Amino acid sequence: MGCRHSAHTCSPLDKTPNFHSIPLIMKLLVRSLAALSLLAFTTAPLSAETPAERDARMKWFREARFGMFIHWGLYAIPAGEWNGKPVKKQGTEWIQSAAEIPVSEYTPLKDQFNPVKYDADAWVRLAKDAGMKYIVLTTKHHDGFCLWESAQTDWDIGSTPYKKDLIAPLAEACRKHGIKLCFYYSIMDWHHPDYGTKEPWRGNAANPKPDMDRYTAYMKAQLKELLTNYGDIGILWFDGEWEDAWTHERGKDLYAYCRSLQPSVIINNRVDKGRAGHAGMTTDTKYAGDYGTPEDQVPAQGLPGVDWEACMTMNGTWGYSKRGDKWKSPESLIHHLIDIASKGGNLLLNVGPTAEGVIQEEAVERLQQFAAWMKPHAEAIHGTTANILPETPWGRCTVKKIADGQTRLYLHIFDWPKDGKLTVKGVPGTVSATGCLTDPSLKPVWAQGETGIVTLTLPAQAPNQIASVITLDVKM
Ligand code: GLC
Repeated sequence: MGCRHSAHTCSPLDKTPNFHSIPLIMKLLVRSLAALSLLAFTTAPLSAETPAERDARMKWFREARFGMFIHWGLYAIPAGEWNGKPVKKQGTEWIQSAAEIPVSEYTPLKDQFNPVKYDADAWVRLAKDAGMKYIVLTTKHHDGFCLWESAQTDWDIGSTPYKKDLIAPLAEACRKHGIKLCFYYSIMDWHHPDYGTKEPWRGNAANPKPDMDRYTAYMKAQLKELLTNYGDIGILWFDGEWEDAWTHERGKDLYAYCRSLQPSVIINNRVDKGRAGHAGMTTDTKYAGDYGTPEDQVPAQGLPGVDWEACMTMNGTWGYSKRGDKWKSPESLIHHLIDIASKGGNLLLNVGPTAEGVIQEEAVERLQQFAAWMKPHAEAIHGTTANILPETPWGRCTVKKIADGQTRLYLHIFDWPKDGKLTVKGVPGTVSATGCLTDPSLKPVWAQGETGIVTLTLPAQAPNQIASVITLDVKM
């Protein structure tokens, strides 16, 4: 047991650390100061940002189109099984809730967490080779466990046999390889006694007076650590905002607080209460958050003028699972990326490393397939904008401004025409050139009719089995 008291009195603030590298007295001092300075709501208003300033802040995100989600935490130890029985109700990262494991029984998992095979540099290279531009790591998931050494709690990596901060090496590798480091942080916390929504199975249920002001101060102190100790952070990816304990006022305030610490940080819409379920978009502008977060689904249409990012698993669970999960095919995942880019969104594709710190072979294989496809096709994804054609029955289309005021249409052809004729309807402007990204010598012959119908003559064989990209340069 990590806590010597009953659940009633056990708080992340009063546990005795055994092998912590930050001396207890320091932690206590830091915690009292944090509580004093952060109890009150942040007074700064939502930053008054001009549209141009907002565009500048969102620029890298809009160009990136592809990122890696990493769900990693203590739940990788049970990996979907509790007391020898599979727990199938939710993703494996939900096991504490799905199997109704009280905090007192869940806490000892920390004594087994020792990710000796963790190689942050290898993870970042894997992401980069796949064409991903950013990484979002679960710094704290719903179980409240922190992957960094937080001065606010001992429910953190410092209290495990591993002891070392897991974020610092990732931050360094990201800097080295030019990848944006981003943090997932769960608002809902099944461990903290002051988190205000109680369910009978939660060990913190016994706390008669949960105090969301105190809990918010704890979150702010932790976010201050995350936003000051690891350099520039690309995105703060909040989650677990749906319970009643979290309010619109708190969401707005937390957004302003984080932006006050790092003005350029991008914050997803789960910081506030405006998200429409798993469809993920916020339409009412009174809610804070810079972009929508559809979950394991892709909107039928992108929303004009609204930034969004679809997060997606490769196998139906966010955390690592030892069950034989259904893996999505590499082809379907690559098609998702293309589909999402063609609708003006980003794909945040998940991996769930093992408790030892290994990204599963199945995930690595899929990322390698991305790497193979992205190598010649990256320009048809990165820095592109949404499709402008009225229909694309043969696949998808992404768009980019190129030299001489021209526009390049990237035709991602999923169904290569057997008769070698591809009809593209509604092409705006006049085609000036064609090309093929995998074969510079291929310049398909085209004929353009008056109504914007372009007919391309293509070779019999598709240049790429997953999606071949033919370019149309257009003067508009
Ligand atoms: C959901 C789940 C959570 C997961 C997240 C990723 O909100 O609660 O387990 O981290 O989606 O989008």
